[in-house]
Amino acid sequence: MHVVITGANRGIGKAMAERYRAAGHSVTGTARDGSEAVTLDVTDTAQHADMAQKLNGQPIDLLICNAGVYLDKGQSIDGYAPEMWAQSFAANVTGVFLTVQALLPNLRAAKGKIAIISSQMASHTRAPGGSYIYRASKAAALNLGRNLSKDLETDGIAVGIYHPGWVKTDMGGEAGDITVDASADGLLARFEALNSNTSGCFETWDGRPHAY
Ligand SMILES: NC(=O)c1ccc[n+]([C@@H]2O[C@H](COP(=O)([O-])OP(=O)(O)OC[C@H]3O[C@@H](n4cnc5c(N)ncnc54)[C@H](OP(=O)(O)O)[C@@H]3O)[C@@H](O)[C@H]2O)c1
Repeated sequence: MHVVITGANRGIGKAMAERYRAAGHSVTGTARDGSEAVTLDVTDTAQHADMAQKLNGQPIDLLICNAGVYLDKGQSIDGYAPEMWAQSFAANVTGVFLTVQALLPNLRAAKGKIAIISSQMASHTRAPGGSYIYRASKAAALNLGRNLSKDLETDGIAVGIYHPGWVKTDMGGEAGDITVDASADGLLARFEALNSNTSGCFETWDGRPHAY
């Protein structure tokens, strides 16, 4: 299996890449620091074009849109600068779409799957206040995944959207509920289970359906 993972240099992305490599799969990791095979800042259209060219002709069985930012963690209501909105949406929403768009021929060739790492913070049923930018961007990523699942149905491409848990990474912090290993193990099982019948699902790392 050929797996492409954005943001494979640290956190959940790195743990997923390690697992697929250990299982003998071919992994193309992307990172903006040049530490993976493909250098990709998901907000950079020129780098998306370079990636598409580099992977041209290589079918992709699974694309994991994992790269993301949580820039407004801890902002107070007088914060949330417009630039913070723009940067966050560029990475968490536009970045996902541009990645899918760039690799669509490769996904079509394999009838591959797309996994979008969103968050439970995307759900409108969970609105405790705060983190307006992150919540809105992850809600948009969820919405994007749901709509892509319809449009890619005829290509045989299934799309799943996932909450990885509250994970002890740089983003999640030490207080997180679960280890990066537990999250990655759970997510890999979810991606394995994803198929045309479950396309458009929003699930947690441990296999529970999440309210949209
Ligand atoms: N940790 C949690 O509790 C939690 C909960 C819900 C959802 N999530 C989601 O899970 C995903 C992974 O999170 P994580 O906890 O592993 O976070 P992390 O440790 O902060 O790692 C984030 C990864 O995304 C990459 N990234 C950020 N902006 C990028 C950009 N513009 N272009 C390319 N790569 C970019 C980072 O690359 P650099 O090293 O270059 O910065 C890094 O590889 C994210 O989408 C996050 O929103 C996490």
